[in-house]
Amino acid sequence: MDSAHLENDLVNVLFTQEQIQERLGEMAQQIAADYEGKDLLMVGVLRGAVMVMADLSRALPRHCEMDWMAISSYGSGTKSSGVVRILKDLDTDITGRHVLIVDEIIDTGLTLSWLVNSLGSRGPASVEIATLLRKPEALSMPVEPKYVGWDIPNEFVVGYGLDYHEKYRNLRDIGTLAPHVYS
Ligand code: IMP
Ligand code: MG
Repeated sequence: MDSAHLENDLVNVLFTQEQIQERLGEMAQQIAADYEGKDLLMVGVLRGAVMVMADLSRALPRHCEMDWMAISSYGSGTKSSGVVRILKDLDTDITGRHVLIVDEIIDTGLTLSWLVNSLGSRGPASVEIATLLRKPEALSMPVEPKYVGWDIPNEFVVGYGLDYHEKYRNLRDIGTLAPHVYS
């Protein structure tokens, strides 16, 4: 789905599919350099990170493994519930592994700071975060992603995996959702 298919659901397009691919390519180069000589296990956070994982992993000029976790963060609206729960755990034993958590957005940072602690207690060699987007509130949390695509304003965005009530994930671009859609 393209932004043109959405009529006026979006206030603006923040990042086009071309810009997203270019930025992911740069992040992949950096990741490849940092993990040279090390095994890399990328852990995607379902469901939002599916697109980022697909494109970031394919932009890597090297091997990687992928696994997935599902944790509850937001309910179905635009506000964080504050409740974190594992809905689907990893299939991989991460003892001694270099783990790179892949996510699409950090808002409050609540979900990821919890996840980093949780995975950290399983004895991995390292745990880092790659996120495509980061909102301002995350800067006040003890969660420090090593790779950030872009810092964005505190607005509700959709597309490229990001949803509102499970819709808009299949939008190719990332855009700011018009308030009339959720008010
Ligand atoms: P956090 O724990 O507040 O950092 O929540 C992060 C999660 O909230 C993300 O993985 C998304 O699922 C969701 N989220 C936060 N901001 C947005 C947004 O602007 N659009 C869509 N989903 C969002
Ligand atoms: Mg998510």
